[in-house]
Amino acid sequence: MKEELKDIINRLAERFPEKESALLPALCYLQNRDGYVSEEGMKSVAVILDLPEARVFSTASFYSMLNLKPEGKYIIQICTNVVCTLLTENPLLEYISNSLGIREGEVTPDGLFSIKEVECLGACGYAPAMHINEERYENLTFESVDEIIGSIRKSELI
Ligand code: FES
Repeated sequence: MKEELKDIINRLAERFPEKESALLPALCYLQNRDGYVSEEGMKSVAVILDLPEARVFSTASFYSMLNLKPEGKYIIQICTNVVCTLLTENPLLEYISNSLGIREGEVTPDGLFSIKEVECLGACGYAPAMHINEERYENLTFESVDEIIGSIRKSELI
């Protein structure tokens, strides 16, 4: 375990009355640093915060915003809950998956995109909806999805 990681997590833990309250901030730190939360990273967090590994692993797998494996630079989170699904002729997940040539959990060969199926994004009144990283997109159509993904690809070429 790297001393630097230990120092950072211990400093995070000092902010809380209970050391284990630093669990989520520590996992977020790993994700910000590496782009995902690795198994090795979770094991280190468990040791540093003196928590069972199972507790760290179950917390990390509970939150859909935490990635447990490397993802694309742009993570497309597609809501497949009932409202979003009813408002599309064909499920948006299937459309985007076919369009990018990847399935959920895969990364495009250029490393740009990965897809995640998620529960309600809290935008039911503006369904169908998706997130790409921190940006929310609402009232989607297949055409608007093509435009959004196309403009991201274009911005990567500049
Ligand atoms: S059902 Fe899709 S955002 Fe709520």
